[in-house]
Amino acid sequence: MKDYNQLFENNKLWIKTMLKKDPHFFEKLAKDQNPDFLYIGCSDSRVPANEIMGLEPRDVFVHRNIANIIDNIDVNANSVIEFAVEQLQVKHIIVCGHYDCGGVQAAMQARDLGIMNGWLRSIRDVYRLHKTELNLIKSEKDRFDRLVELNVHEQSVNVIKSKAVQMSYQRTGYPIVHGWVFSLHNGKLIDLKIDFEGILNDIKEIYGLESPKDIDQKKKQQ
Ligand code: CO
Repeated sequence: MKDYNQLFENNKLWIKTMLKKDPHFFEKLAKDQNPDFLYIGCSDSRVPANEIMGLEPRDVFVHRNIANIIDNIDVNANSVIEFAVEQLQVKHIIVCGHYDCGGVQAAMQARDLGIMNGWLRSIRDVYRLHKTELNLIKSEKDRFDRLVELNVHEQSVNVIKSKAVQMSYQRTGYPIVHGWVFSLHNGKLIDLKIDFEGILNDIKEIYGLESPKDIDQKKKQQ
């Protein structure tokens, strides 16, 4: 176990390192943040957001939870998305899962998970949506990997459902939503290349958030 007090020693060293790189580092840090990216990832300690993307403090707004889930009524996650889009005006939202995700693995077993039942039910919903494809995969490991990818896809769709994303994209062409997976075995980030615009257009029929005023206006023009 790492000594608790070592963390403060590490902090002193970190301050020195940052100041060596840039003597004005903390002046800038205290001033403001202007990140272009919102990263939504898993809480897993092996997937440190800034490090794997090579980004410094100020560069990325981060939200992490178990298995990178964006639940539609999660006030925490949805506040992060709205703040990042409307106030920080991020250009890209990255939903990043990772292979060997304990949350996804737990959700694959049909058994009581205690307080986690509700949280991981979102992943079981993903499994149910893609059951035909998943059940055709013979190897359990491959099925696990595929569920990790499908979970990223579905959570990206949940981000796209949000009003903040839909309205901002219509107005400015941003943010673009991306789905990634991180591999613990080689450190690589894999872009799943989700079709952001295609998904947005496809879900609008059901999840479109035009105001009643706009809809009335359109009807009048027809
Ligand atoms: Co995980």
